[in-house]
Amino acid sequence: MPLAGRLPFVLPDLAWADNALEPFISARTIRLHHGKHHRGYVEAANRLAVQAGLAQHPADDIWRQAAADPALSVLANAAGQAWNHALFWNSLSPEPEPPAPALARRIARDFGGLRELQAAFILAASAQFGSGWVWLVERGGTLAVERTANADAPELRGIRCLLTIDVWEHAYYLDYENRRGDFVEAVFTRLLNWRFAESRLDA
Ligand SMILES: [Fe+2]
Repeated sequence: MPLAGRLPFVLPDLAWADNALEPFISARTIRLHHGKHHRGYVEAANRLAVQAGLAQHPADDIWRQAAADPALSVLANAAGQAWNHALFWNSLSPEPEPPAPALARRIARDFGGLRELQAAFILAASAQFGSGWVWLVERGGTLAVERTANADAPELRGIRCLLTIDVWEHAYYLDYENRRGDFVEAVFTRLLNWRFAESRLDA
């Protein structure tokens, strides 16, 4: 059934080429992850939003409303995955620069330094049983690392998410097989977009 009018959930274009993150994330993984997985979540969220009579609302409102209603859990999961993946793509840069001084000072204050923050990310990724996400968040003026399962995100609880790494197997299995920690270390040290984190802090 063709869906008339504008749909609330949109698959964002990537800011870089499919192969721009190689050798840390392959073009094949990006094409599958963005073109199949993320696209599938966006399409499911739109279909379910139409079925629920919510398609006239903004995507973020649909996500929050569905997450608060157990009867809309399937929509909440699709909408959450649409949002989480958009944040993930923004969290990656083929030419990352280190955190600017203001953010570097906050990382030093709240973690001890970038190395300690990296260790916290890898620890959270390995502690996350099954599928999920690891996040750098700002909570009450303090930076923290959080992890969530499946499609959940701290943003739903009013906690500002600055960066995320997807630790679903589809994010890394083609390139790293079962070595989730190696994937997270590579993304953290070679691809994280600190400019984006700073823009989220300033927003
Ligand atoms: Fe993913």
